This record gives sequence, structure tokens and C-alpha cells, in this order.
Amino acid sequence: MEESVPVWELRNVTKRFPGVVANDSVSLSLVAGRIHGLLGENGCGKSTLVKVLCGVHQPDSGEILCAGQPVVLSDPIAARRAGIATVFQEFSLVQTLSVAENIYLGRLPGNRWRIDWPAMREGARRVLGRIHVAIDPDAIVGELSTAGQQLVEIAKAIAANASMIILDEPTTALGPDEIAELHRLLLRLRDDGRIILYISHRLDEVVELVDEATILKDGRVVSNAAETPVEISAIVLKMVGRVDEHFPKAANATSDALLDVRSIHTSNRVAGASFTVGRGEVFGLGGVLGSGRTEIARALFGVDVLRQGEIRLRGKSLKLLSSRDAIAAGIALVPENRKSDGLFFNFSGLENISIAGLGRITRGAMLDHARERRLAHGLIRSLRITPTAGTALVGELSGGNQQKIVIARWLFAEAELFVLDEPTQGIDVGAKIAVYQLINELTAAGKGVILISSDYDELLAMSDRIGIVSRGRIVAIRDARSLDKADLVKASADQEELAA
Ligand SMILES: Nc1ncnc2c1ncn2[C@@H]1O[C@H](COP(=O)(O)OP(=O)(O)OP(=O)(O)O)[C@@H](O)[C@H]1O
Ligand SMILES: [Mg+2]
Repeated sequence: MEESVPVWELRNVTKRFPGVVANDSVSLSLVAGRIHGLLGENGCGKSTLVKVLCGVHQPDSGEILCAGQPVVLSDPIAARRAGIATVFQEFSLVQTLSVAENIYLGRLPGNRWRIDWPAMREGARRVLGRIHVAIDPDAIVGELSTAGQQLVEIAKAIAANASMIILDEPTTALGPDEIAELHRLLLRLRDDGRIILYISHRLDEVVELVDEATILKDGRVVSNAAETPVEISAIVLKMVGRVDEHFPKAANATSDALLDVRSIHTSNRVAGASFTVGRGEVFGLGGVLGSGRTEIARALFGVDVLRQGEIRLRGKSLKLLSSRDAIAAGIALVPENRKSDGLFFNFSGLENISIAGLGRITRGAMLDHARERRLAHGLIRSLRITPTAGTALVGELSGGNQQKIVIARWLFAEAELFVLDEPTQGIDVGAKIAVYQLINELTAAGKGVILISSDYDELLAMSDRIGIVSRGRIVAIRDARSLDKADLVKASADQEELAA
């Protein structure tokens, strides 16, 4: 590696929260014109480090240097002035403002007395154009899809013309095309001489993108840029400490029908979808973003009510008017947008886990708290959720641990059919493997699983059959073993074109 001068440098940065050292004497050099990956399991301190760099948290000790000079990033405005722009794991957009206003928030064009609206709109249009995003600058952010909002976040960072752009899991809401587009953009910014600090649990995209990587564990650097090979199996080994089968698929599918979905329609995108799921089967749903996969899941969970068609479970026709009906019928949903759909932030992890399965821990009219604790702690262990989740408020856990809590909840609820919408999004590779093993346990017990995933490697490896979704219908059903990644990308894209 050639000699290169770091622009930004962290020296022995430590950040404590009550009971946890989130960053433990972290040293890191960030060099202009490089994409630096920040890796590590859930709760290892990645987002905390990002928040130190963007002025949200002050380090308890240690130094931050810019071009060799110590700097204090006392608040987010100071960090922005110093040239650091951040795309957060949690969105920071103002839902009620327009796209253009969000992009220019804090830096409105014009003078003290007048905002130059046309300049703002034009500027926003230019930035969106640069990242090939077809979003109207006048659209209200709250009305955009999650993917749309994600892209606006990125546009905002780019518009700020920062020398360092930090992205904390920017692709969780993006489809493969959008991810590729984002990566091309980041490469251009890198070649422009900027620093990109990139966090993602999708190791496939990390190794494709980054020039170098740092791995954290329990708040410490366990492998610095010089020590980390940018290669999946080496990274997994350093993160997990052992080599596991990445996709431990067990073949448990039977032709014994569990779910029979017959030409269902909803007023939310689903337009004549039909498919079956056998006992022990994992039925994957593939398709591009917005094809209707999530909406099919919502229909199965009673969130969107059927206008036409029928859902039969174990041969019995279901009338699902709410998610309560779906839960009673034995259907569980791990929703895609866990932040807004899934969690009670002011309750502990344990309470969040047991909430949908109270029937299992009730004896007569009494809650059996010992049983609740036993069952929930079993799941906390097998999903490798941080042990503090039993008592800590969910709002204080790391993003990935929050996601695991929602998964644990539905496993706790003991359903017959599990609808998993992007179940491994945002969780570390060790936990992903644990989720795959749980899927195997479910199918071995004769349960059915519907798997929605934008990670095509995962979808192909873990499904028995895959239905391609386009415009709210299943347009093809294939044996997963007969498909490869390219087929899946092509099938989804072709179908969208055909339907267009
Ligand atoms: N505001 C806070 N108050 C208390 N503890 C916190 C707070 N923010 C983070 N922590 C704790 O600090 C540790 C590091 O969390 P952090 O969010 O940085 O992890 P992460 O590496 O980003 O994880 P993930 O991959 O799940 O997003 C965790 O133990 C977390 O519970
Ligand atoms: Mg995080």
C-alpha cells in the first residue's frame, strides 16, 4: 500500500454509556480517495463511533484530528462545517417538509431575509440528477417510500459537498439496482478525493465496494485497515471467530399443503396473487422493490384486507380483518420496517418479545413470569441478542439488536406460518446464521415460511421454491435450485418490463 496521509484521524477515542464502553480506545485513519468499511457485530460500537464523528456524542477521552490538527466536533453543526456529512442508520429527515427543503435544511440558499426557492429547487434537482434519482424535489418526504427517503438522505449528504461522507447502513431499504447505483456514485465521489466511511452488514456489497476495512468487537478495534483482508470468508472468520456454513439450508419441504393463496387482491398493490406453501417449506418471494412482495405479506397478516380471492390455512378459509385475526389463525409477520411497525421503545426487550405470545405464558388468568423469562431468554441466547436485552429498554439497544427482538417475538408466538420480510437486514453475520438455523428448526417442525429478501444469495440458498412477484402478482414459480442470482435479477427485471 502506498504511503498516504490521513485527513481524519481518531486517536484512542473512548465513549462510555452507563454500563457499557461503546468505543474503547479506538484509533482509525481515514485517507482521502478511499472507501473505508467499518464492520463488526451488532452492538460493537459502529454507530456510536459515527455519532462521535458527526458531533452527536462527545468522546470521554481521546482525540480527533483533521489534517494533523486536533479538532473538537462540539455539535452536529460544527461537524458539518468541518466537512463531515452523515447518512444515519435511523432516518433524520423531516417528514412534513419537501425533498428540496430537506436537502438544504440548515443551508438554505438566499440571504438573511429571503430564501431563494427556485435556486433551492434547481439545486435539489441537480443533486438528485447526479445520483440518477427520479424524485420530485417538491414531493413531501413523508409520502415517499422508504427507499425514496433513503435516497434523499444520501442526496442531502452529497449536496453538503462534504469531504467525508459517512453512511451507516445506507442500503437496507434499497433494491439491487439502487444499491448498484449508489455504489457507482460512491466510487465517483471517492475518485473525486473524498473519504467515504461505509457501514453495512451485507458483506457481499462491502467487499465489492470498500478499499479497506476496520473490524470492531466490543467497542475495540480487533483488525485495522492493514490487517483486514477485503474478502468475505476472512472477515467472517475475524468477526465470528470461526468458520460456519454461511447458508446452512436444511431440506424439510413436503407437498402437504399448509397455505393456499388463491388470486388475492387488495387495494394496496396486490392484484391476483396465487401460490401455495407446503409444511416444512420455505417459499421465497423475489422481485424488484415495489413489486408487491411486502404488500402480499401485509395481506397475509390482515393488515391490508382482501377485496377478492381467498387465503386458506390448513384447508380452512380465513377471514383476516386485522393482524389480531392473523395472529389467532397462527400467522406471524416479521415486518420489513421494524422501526415503525415493530417495537415498543419504552419497554424492555423481554416484554417486547413476549407481547404477541401472551397465550403461551398465561395460566388461568395469571401471567407465568418465570415461564416468560425462560422462553424469552432461550431466544435471546439462540439469536445471540445482547444479554442486557432482557432488562434494558429497547430504545437503548443497537439497531441490529432491536431487529433481533422483533424476530424473537414471533418465534415466541409459536405460529404455523411465518412471514419473514427481510429478516436478516441490519443484523450481523453471526446472527444471520442463527436466523437461518431457526428457519431450519421451524421447517423441521412442519411450519411454513414465506421469505422475502433483497439479498439474492440468501433468498436462493434458503428457499425451496421461489415465486417472482411483479405488479402484485406471482408471475413465475421455480425450484430455487434451478435458479442462480443472474436468473433472479433478470426474471424480476423482465417481468417489470413486460408488465410496464
Ligand atoms: N444512547 C445510548 N444509551 C445507552 N447505551 C447506548 C446508546 N447508544 C448505544 N448504546 C450502547 O452502546 C453499544 C454500541 O452500540 P452501537 O449502536 O454503536 O452499535 P452498532 O455497532 O452500531 O450496532 P448495530 O450493528 O446493531 O447497528 C451497545 O451496547 C448499545 O446498547
Ligand atoms: Mg448501528
